[in-house]
Amino acid sequence: MQNQELFNEYAKEIINNKIFKECKKIFSHGSVSIYEHSIAVAKKAFALAEKNAGVDKKCVVRAALLHDFFLYEWHIPGVRYLVHGWAHPAIAAKKAREVFNITDKEYSCIKTHMWPWTLFTPPRCREGWIISISDKIIALKETALRRGNRGRLRDPLASQNRLEGRGAFTEA
Ligand SMILES: [Fe+2]
Ligand SMILES: [Fe+2]
Repeated sequence: MQNQELFNEYAKEIINNKIFKECKKIFSHGSVSIYEHSIAVAKKAFALAEKNAGVDKKCVVRAALLHDFFLYEWHIPGVRYLVHGWAHPAIAAKKAREVFNITDKEYSCIKTHMWPWTLFTPPRCREGWIISISDKIIALKETALRRGNRGRLRDPLASQNRLEGRGAFTEA
């Protein structure tokens, strides 16, 4: 990433938002929180956008930050866990629209980021493709670098404790 200042300018409204900070309490892959994951995806997407002339970098950063803004613990065994991959983009897009004044393009990027999981909703713009690709690159890295949380992630009580701010979770 070349222009950290521009990234910060685009990211600050979301990163400083109290509700967005709730993402620190929810895990993405391994011991990485959704908060950390979303910032990593936004940085990767911004770096890719810098290399592609004409891409709306502001849209890329904001939609990448909000792409997993679903705000529920998904590692608890059950129906929600099973449909999470397919269902969470639409939930995140809806929540992002409720909390932030996002554009239609940002909404679309969030809603389509899980393609090909969401078979009939591929990204509709370059910004959406950049976010979808960045998410997969970061998710692969996080999965490969799991830091010993497998047992905890399978324990519903541990998940609930994290959600309520108890237990071993410490924010970055
Ligand atoms: Fe996602
Ligand atoms: Fe993600």
